[in-house]
Amino acid sequence: MKLRITVLAGDGIGPEVTREAVRVLRKVGEICGQEFQLTEHAIGGAAIKETGNPLPPATLDACLGSDAVLLGAVGGPKFDALPTNQRPEAGLLSLRTALGGFANLRPAKSFAAIKDCSPLRPEVLQDADILVVRELLGGLYFSEPRGFSSDGNSASNTMRYSAHEVERVAHVAFQAARERRNKVTSVDKANVLEVSRLWRNVVSEVGRQYPDVTLEHMYVDACAMHLLMNPSRFDVLVTENMFGDILSDEAAAISGSLGMLASASIGGEVDLYEPIHGSAPDIAGLGVANPMGAIASVAMLLRYTAKLERWADDVEDSIAHVLNDGYRTPDLTKSSKGKICTTEQIGELIEGALAEVIERKHPYHAV
Ligand code: NAD
Ligand code: IPM
Ligand code: MN
Repeated sequence: MKLRITVLAGDGIGPEVTREAVRVLRKVGEICGQEFQLTEHAIGGAAIKETGNPLPPATLDACLGSDAVLLGAVGGPKFDALPTNQRPEAGLLSLRTALGGFANLRPAKSFAAIKDCSPLRPEVLQDADILVVRELLGGLYFSEPRGFSSDGNSASNTMRYSAHEVERVAHVAFQAARERRNKVTSVDKANVLEVSRLWRNVVSEVGRQYPDVTLEHMYVDACAMHLLMNPSRFDVLVTENMFGDILSDEAAAISGSLGMLASASIGGEVDLYEPIHGSAPDIAGLGVANPMGAIASVAMLLRYTAKLERWADDVEDSIAHVLNDGYRTPDLTKSSKGKICTTEQIGELIEGALAEVIERKHPYHAV
């Protein structure tokens, strides 16, 4: 069956990394015979420039009519003066709500070949491998009331969760833990916030349905410390929207660069895949952005939407293969000696590595 994918490259390095992700997706389609129908649309700052709207109706309609959305990044300093609800980021947030994926999976692991890119010592890092399950559609980002007072001298946001919103994301976390190492750490601020008390109660209740999975609760401040002091103690970490945003960027220290981290937003009508980084205005246009997070997001698309687990594994193995061969974008060369590559070269190398990985793992399906 043909899979319809809407591609939203967005702003800054978004188009640069998305081009390479699309290259790898097309290659997988070619090799495994899965047809991907790719359609590009504007979002974020690029859409504001074209239409005045960060999420034009044509983009939203295309996304709602597809099987999955692959997004680069949105935002940039040019748009910083706009009101919150007109910014490029507002386009992304409205899209997330419309697609309905409430569980944002953000894996962060240490790769053998680039261990020295992590600021963490090897004995601290060990083989850290974490899945952050970030609630994506509630909490501080979306709850009402919000806004500035009429005199502009105060402003507020609200962190609200219903038991239902907590319950559904908790189930995703426990189910994911069953496929991993059977441990869930639920992160909250229950010593201060009522909304976290609710979060903790509901997660504990859901946890009783998964007696084979160990559940621990942790305050977010302590979690921020443990993530860097002892990252290998974590398996699945489930938390609310804002805490998950912050902790997942922090978890990039495990991999060695924010550019390595992918994400999948699942559980709604249409799945959304995007690297966790932003538009990186400081390196945009230089052709040096790391496309591995975007390409790993394609692997997640193959796993969760296309149900092509084997090909998802092969894309991930191809990323590791290219790293093992010493090829790196500049963000990964701060401490390790490697062969410095452009964004495009890394995309081409991963595309090429796919054939080699397949030849080694599935010689009957050699290309
Ligand atoms: P950022 O993630 O864009 O960049 C943070 C740092 O990481 C920068 O030094 C950047 O160069 C580096 N970096 C990020 N991705 C990289 C990659 N693939 N390869 C190499 N280095 C990489 O965060 P920021 O600078 O705080 O935000 C810039 C803009 O992006 C803002 O407008 C913000 O709102 C937006 N943003 C968008 C998304 C998204 O679209 N999902 C996510 C985060 C931030
Ligand atoms: C992310 C980003 C977004 C978020 C912004 C751009 C709205 O930081 O995807 O992590 O906060 O969710
Ligand atoms: Mn973020």
